[in-house]
This record gives sequence, structure tokens and C-alpha cells, in this order.
Amino acid sequence: MEVNGVPYRTIRPKPDNPEVIEIIDQRQLPYRLVHEEICDVAGMAAAIREMHVRGAPLIGAAGAYGMYLAMLGIESEVTVGAVIRKAYHDLAETRPTAVNLIWALNRSIAALDHAVTIADKRRVALDVANRIADDDIDVCRRIGQHGLTIIEQAAADHPGRPIHILTHCNAGWLACIDHGTATAPIYAAHARGLPIHVWVDETRPRNQGARLTAWELANAGVPHTVVADNTGGYLMQKAMVDLVLVGTDRTTRTGDVVNKIGTYLKALAARDNAIPFYVAAPTSSIDWNVADGLDGVPIEERDADEIRFVTGIHDDASCRVRIIPADTPAVNYAFDVTPARLVTALITEFGVCAAGERSMSALFREHGFVPDAAASRTIV
Ligand code: MRU
Repeated sequence: MEVNGVPYRTIRPKPDNPEVIEIIDQRQLPYRLVHEEICDVAGMAAAIREMHVRGAPLIGAAGAYGMYLAMLGIESEVTVGAVIRKAYHDLAETRPTAVNLIWALNRSIAALDHAVTIADKRRVALDVANRIADDDIDVCRRIGQHGLTIIEQAAADHPGRPIHILTHCNAGWLACIDHGTATAPIYAAHARGLPIHVWVDETRPRNQGARLTAWELANAGVPHTVVADNTGGYLMQKAMVDLVLVGTDRTTRTGDVVNKIGTYLKALAARDNAIPFYVAAPTSSIDWNVADGLDGVPIEERDADEIRFVTGIHDDASCRVRIIPADTPAVNYAFDVTPARLVTALITEFGVCAAGERSMSALFREHGFVPDAAASRTIV
């Protein structure tokens, strides 16, 4: 996407020094667009854990670039195996819910197995990371095209007025490499000239909707309005939402969708109001190894200070204020599980399908993709 006419990716090797990985430090948005240079695997692990980079597909690419940085840090042949195992382990444990991370690390490890010398391993690890990033751009673009047909249909059903789409968290280009997953159909519809308006859930506690999705949509000129998280149900009751469109951190092979905390409540409200609930789900976010989202997917629990404090900007300086009584306990589950039965359809890069084992597997196989349960299993 472009920001002030300049094309951006969320992550890339620095053009004049590919031994450094350049990211956008998303903690600083929407106040400042700041690039950060990551020079070693520990720095990449910290950037993922502390959410300088976030969003399932971007976490995956960042993990693969982290493996590459680990390869650059190898000093002797003797330590290669230990360095690979430690890098894999340190990166894998940063954020447990988005399956994209393990998926990308496994791809890196599989390729590294075939590289003999240290130079080969460096080259191969960089190739894999670049391929993951490039592929993700293509996958998101294709999700955009498949999702566009859904928005086109909604526009045909409601001529003469904008289509109102509600989204949660940030499943935009900032969460990926470009385009986004849930935002790709929105950007495609906007480019096509369809009248759309996006309701942006603020997405407490870290406010990815209010800070990141709003910033993205404003940059792209897409009409949008930020609402408090609890507003979605009322909007749906008042027929002010035509469809809900969210991303996913992990979708099980049976179609259960694990996504940012609060997604499930939107799905319940959508079902109660007969509003379609779509999930943009790239292959890299599907866990063929897990059937039941509630039992089988680790839900990240983050520092309760993210609930206690809100960060914003005051007089051009970043500031953090406490918003609950000092000694009140708080708990911070970062994701929840929307059962497949509440999902109208998944929008994948291969097309749109029901959230269920048979239809997902059939769609993927039809496109020559063999569902691989091993892709999401920790292997080192
Ligand atoms: O905690 P975050 O900001 O990494 O959570 C992000 C989300 O929940 C997104 O909806 C999901 O990763 C899909 S991103 C295309």
C-alpha cells in the first residue's frame, strides 16, 4: 500500500544492507510512521513478542526473517545445529496463537535441512523468508478478489447506498505484508468504485482497530467510523451492518476461527441479526492438525497492564495512563474462539467455502493443495 504516495511493505531486508531487516514499528502508529532496523534473532523475537510487528501473516514472515538473522549470527560449523534449534525455539514461543509463526518456522527449517554450508544456510533462509513475504502479498490479493464478489453481491442487493462492513482488530496490510486479509476485499471494492463504509471496532485493550485499521483506511481514502467494541450489536440490531469481515490467527480444519478477543461476540450478534459473518483465512492461518478450536489452540494471555493502562499521545508526546483502580486484578486473554457454526464462509486464496472440514478440504484439494497437518506441529 502507499502512504503519502510511497509504496510500503511491513517488512523487508534493508535495500542497501540485506543483513538488516526493516520493519514498521506498529506501536508508534497512528502517531508516527517509524521504521526499525532488526539486526539479530533476539531483536526479532522481541519485536514479535512486544508487538512492534503483529498480525498473523506478518508474525510468520517475521519469524522466517528471524531464522535468517540467526543464520547470519553463526560463528562456527560446530554450533550450527544448536543455533537453529535455539532460534526456532525462541521465535516459536513469542506468540503462541497465530499458527502462521510455526508454519513459517517449519518452512524455514525444512529448507535449511537441505543446505550444507553456512553460506548456503544464510542464502536459503533469506530465500524462504522472501518467498513467504512475496507469496503472502499474492495470497492477500487473491483473497481480495474472492471477497470482492461478496461485496459486489451486497451492493447489487442494496443499490443506491453504501455497503456497511464491520471489522474487528486489524487484519489489514499492517497485519500482513501488503493488502491485508480482511481489508483486501474492502480495498478491492473501493478501487472498483463501490460505495462502502467500514465500522471499525476499537479492539480493546491494544486498540488495533482504532489505531491501525483506522489509520490504514484513512490513508486509502476508505470511508470509515471507529466504534467502541460494545457498539457492534446495536449497529446490527438497527440494520446498520450488511456484513462482518474479520481475519484469523488460526482456523482449525473444522472451521473454528481463533481471532482477536471479542470476535466471538460479534459472530453471536451477527447470527442473532441474520447478518453474514465472513472470515478471511489464508492457507498459512489454517491448522490442519487441530479440530477443536477451544480445546486445541493455545490462547495467548498477555500482561494485564495492557488492560490497566491506555497509551496515547498528548502534546505530541506518547503517554500512558492507568484507567482502573491500582490494586484491581485484571486478566488479558488476547484471542477467542468463534465456532464454525457461526461463520457464514471462509474467504481463502482459493475461493470462498463453508467453514467445515469437508468443504475446506475439498476446495483446497481442488486447487492442488494437500492439507498438511504436520505444517503446524512444533518440530525442533
Ligand atoms: O494481537 P494481534 O494484533 O497480532 O492480533 C491480530 C488479529 O487478531 C488479526 O485479526 C489476525 O492476526 C488476522 S491478521 C490478517
